[in-house]
Amino acid sequence: MTHDNSTTHANWQNRTLFHGDNLKFLRAMNSESVDLIATDPPFKKGRDFHATPNSLANDAKFQDRWAWERDVHDPWVDQLTDDYPKLWAAIISARLTHSNGMGAFMCFMAVRLIEMHRILKSTGTIYLHCDFTASHYLKIIMDSIFEHKNFLNEIIWQYDGPQRPSRKCFGTKHDTIFRYAKTKDYFSNPDYIAPFQQLTTNELSKYKKLSDGRYYYTTPKGDYTDSSIERLSAEDRVEYTRNGKVRIRHFLLVDNGGNVGRKSNFLMFGLI
Ligand SMILES: C[S@@+](CC[C@H](N)C(=O)[O-])C[C@H]1O[C@@H](n2cnc3c(N)ncnc32)[C@H](O)[C@@H]1O
Repeated sequence: MTHDNSTTHANWQNRTLFHGDNLKFLRAMNSESVDLIATDPPFKKGRDFHATPNSLANDAKFQDRWAWERDVHDPWVDQLTDDYPKLWAAIISARLTHSNGMGAFMCFMAVRLIEMHRILKSTGTIYLHCDFTASHYLKIIMDSIFEHKNFLNEIIWQYDGPQRPSRKCFGTKHDTIFRYAKTKDYFSNPDYIAPFQQLTTNELSKYKKLSDGRYYYTTPKGDYTDSSIERLSAEDRVEYTRNGKVRIRHFLLVDNGGNVGRKSNFLMFGLI
């Protein structure tokens, strides 16, 4: 899948699964050869994880525990201090304010995210999946490498499941996905950003309907100026309550097939 006419050719084949430490593979990939990156790295949970028994990954396990002395390699330190001094300062400050482990985790992530930035096309976007354990520290890394101006979304992935009971803390049933572009020329498909969601007859019955068949809901006048109200009125978007108050009409959408619906704010994600 390509969205631009980039002159850089991929030196890897589409639909290839590389098995092993991703830093090695990332470093071998051509610059600007990837359209989209969705990465679900370790979250720094301080635990060991084991693959589902009898799955393809049976027996696989990984340690999501981080120690400065063990996990930070000298070449990474050289690269970060030489090429990313501001990011290095942030890592050192996290090491001091949070823990050695957070500093080590940030080094592990930083050297990989640097490569991901390099291999992404100028039209590309990256989705970084994490949770509250390290999201605030990863945001700083992403702002350093991809630049804050290219930050697009903090997507909250809320999910169900048993909540460890606590009388002192609110629930924490969500993950975070940071979405960044590489440049302002990033590709984005509007149908996926805000997909059309058809409403059922039951849902439609909660909306108002004009005699011409258009469904709508209303909101108060709010901050609209008189001239805006005049303009909206010309568009059939103003109605008055029994006691003369202005309400603004918002019409539901109709797709090519004549189905009535609205743009959904909810994204559908598959696990990667
Ligand atoms: C949060 S889990 C992602 C799980 C995956 N999305 C799934 O649904 O199975 C993090 C994954 O990163 C992998 N991992 C840890 N270090 C890695 C490395 N250096 N290179 C590639 N993968 C690594 C772990 O084995 C683990 O499967």
